[in-house]
Amino acid sequence: MSARSRHLPRRSCFSTPGSNERFLEKAPTVPADMSFLDLEDSVAPLEKEAARAKVVEAIRKQPWDDRVLCVRINAWDTEWTYGDVIEVVGNAGERLDEVMLPKVQSAAEVIALDLLLTQVEKKSGLPVGHIGIEAQIETTRGLINVDDICAASPRLETIIFGPADFAASMEMPVLTGGVQIPEYPGDHFNYVFSRILMAGRANGLQVIDGPYLKIRELDALRDFTQRTRVLGYDGKWALTPDQVGVLNEMYSPTQEQFDKAWDILDAYQKATEVEGKGAVMFGDEMIDEASRKMAIKFVGRGERAGLTRSQG
Ligand code: GLV
Ligand code: MG
Repeated sequence: MSARSRHLPRRSCFSTPGSNERFLEKAPTVPADMSFLDLEDSVAPLEKEAARAKVVEAIRKQPWDDRVLCVRINAWDTEWTYGDVIEVVGNAGERLDEVMLPKVQSAAEVIALDLLLTQVEKKSGLPVGHIGIEAQIETTRGLINVDDICAASPRLETIIFGPADFAASMEMPVLTGGVQIPEYPGDHFNYVFSRILMAGRANGLQVIDGPYLKIRELDALRDFTQRTRVLGYDGKWALTPDQVGVLNEMYSPTQEQFDKAWDILDAYQKATEVEGKGAVMFGDEMIDEASRKMAIKFVGRGERAGLTRSQG
């Protein structure tokens, strides 16, 4: 299901308000791995229904190259969800890769979207399963149910943390979600990041962090991004073209890491297949089957980021 985009890179996921024609025109020129056109929180309630046609027009007319293309619809507790799906998928479903469902609280919400997508796909002549789902975890109940949510549908491609809504749902005493809190001795979201990552990986999903709202502070973004990059996240939302540049770099392995991963694979293959050994020295470290698994991930990420192995 939704085969095209499932394994494409999502280092940078660029958000564009669906009600703003100027931004919609500019979005394809921003070199993000993934673009999502928003019908949810960056669109005012009075603009919600008019934004659907603008999003349809942008999907059909703009040159989106081969990036992942997504529309964020409104959550099931509003009156807009079904209309968003029918109008956008029904009229622009061919190029659209996925829809993003915000504020997911339970597996049932994902299943309901899956069923609605199936009907709209049938009605508009699309292959059933063409449209993937991205689910946002941004409430306490969503986090409690994250395992079931991640296993709810074969259409799911990613699970995303929404730090701003999550901070509100937790009633954290902050006014900006998803940034450093210097008074907190540690990383206030470490548990949440790890919890979502485990649920996502256990179900074969890509795992994405949400927005960094202080858009002028690129060094602080770089610093904050280390938290999810090191844990193993695939990417993060970008609100500006400058953020896209930082994230494409942060979520790619360096050339040195990429080359080392290849060298480990070569050395381990020689050890196991030629010398019949399961653990060998690689420089001053011991490598074994687990090292091979880690190296495979680096190679995959590097290739998705366009790296090629250095000669010699
Ligand atoms: C994103 O949707 C967030 O709430 O952080
Ligand atoms: Mg949100």
